[in-house]
Amino acid sequence: MNPATAAPRAPHVLVTGAAGFVGRALVARLLQAHARGTGPLARLTTIDLSAVPAAAGVPLHAVEGSIADAAVVQRAFAEPVDWVFHLASVPGGTAEQHYELGRDVNLHGTLHLLEACAAQVARAGGGGPVPRFVFASTVGVFGAPLPPVVDDDTSPCPAMTYGTHKLMAEAAVADFTRRGGCDGISLRLAGVLARPPAPTGQRSAFLSELLRGPAAGREVVCPMSPEATTWASSTPNAVDNLLHAASVPAALLPRHRALTLPALHFSMAELIDALVARHGSAVRACVRFAPDPVVEALFGRQPPMHTPAALAAGFCDDGDLATLLRRATEAEPPDGDTP
Ligand SMILES: NC(=O)c1ccc[n+]([C@@H]2O[C@H](COP(=O)([O-])OP(=O)(O)OC[C@H]3O[C@@H](n4cnc5c(N)ncnc54)[C@H](O)[C@@H]3O)[C@@H](O)[C@H]2O)c1
Repeated sequence: MNPATAAPRAPHVLVTGAAGFVGRALVARLLQAHARGTGPLARLTTIDLSAVPAAAGVPLHAVEGSIADAAVVQRAFAEPVDWVFHLASVPGGTAEQHYELGRDVNLHGTLHLLEACAAQVARAGGGGPVPRFVFASTVGVFGAPLPPVVDDDTSPCPAMTYGTHKLMAEAAVADFTRRGGCDGISLRLAGVLARPPAPTGQRSAFLSELLRGPAAGREVVCPMSPEATTWASSTPNAVDNLLHAASVPAALLPRHRALTLPALHFSMAELIDALVARHGSAVRACVRFAPDPVVEALFGRQPPMHTPAALAAGFCDDGDLATLLRRATEAEPPDGDTP
């Protein structure tokens, strides 16, 4: 289902972190759907530290600044907002090294956005529009070591400050929903592939390079053993799920409003086999395994995952590894390509 067609009127959409990896793909999909008439937008507002380029045909309000500053966030709510996609964050490795930065952005920044939603509702004597608030959380809330299976009953126990602040923000999303300040949903995303090569704070960035490097003849060092298992989804799949979250009925959501998204579970050996099937046997020689116990503990001991609540609410994974590889490395298809 395309949520934009299900909306009763064209929404004013706010995307935080719009200049980031997932944010750019989400904004591109929103603009594509608008241009095609399949998902009209009344207005698009973005917040990021750097400017987001203007878009033809859509009233764009690009707010440049930090969500850690409540005044910056308030500027984004100058017009009533219908959907908030909250993607802005300090990545895990950076948040672990710089506690205050992670706290100010990942926790306080999220609170500023939720408070701005509540202030919007409070305007007009409490009759202001209640925004659907889609928060990009993370499977990092589960921490490590993980139980033999992760499912909807698994208790979160973050192993990094990033996951802790995401979990605290999930609780805030549920609390503001209970108080009527927003209609919130937290999506726990697994690793999204394939991030463009750039020096970022994501410690899992090597997975993206594994998808791209060997196919281009580059040698890639895999800091996990062939047996290490991980969870992942393609960028288009992540965007499909974010957009679905904008319109999924509240009746399908748990009371705590947090859903672990379906994701594929595979070993590094299975990933290399899938790369060989896609690009030929030469890619095998381009991968050198050099397991790092710290990296493997964080990303390589992920057990099978069952996500019945998210599946029942209409969220999906990529279906199979071949599809994930194709969708992760091809240009974003028009209006999605849900398997
Ligand atoms: N990519 C993944 O594999 C993955 C996995 C799980 C969860 N997530 C979550 O999904 C969201 C998007 O991930 P991503 O990979 O696009 O991240 P990203 O790091 O590529 O992008 C984040 C964006 O947020 C912006 N930002 C950072 N601090 C900010 C601030 N103070 N104010 C305003 N903007 C700020 C950055 O400039 C960047 O453009 C994040 O919240 C992340 O925690 C991502």
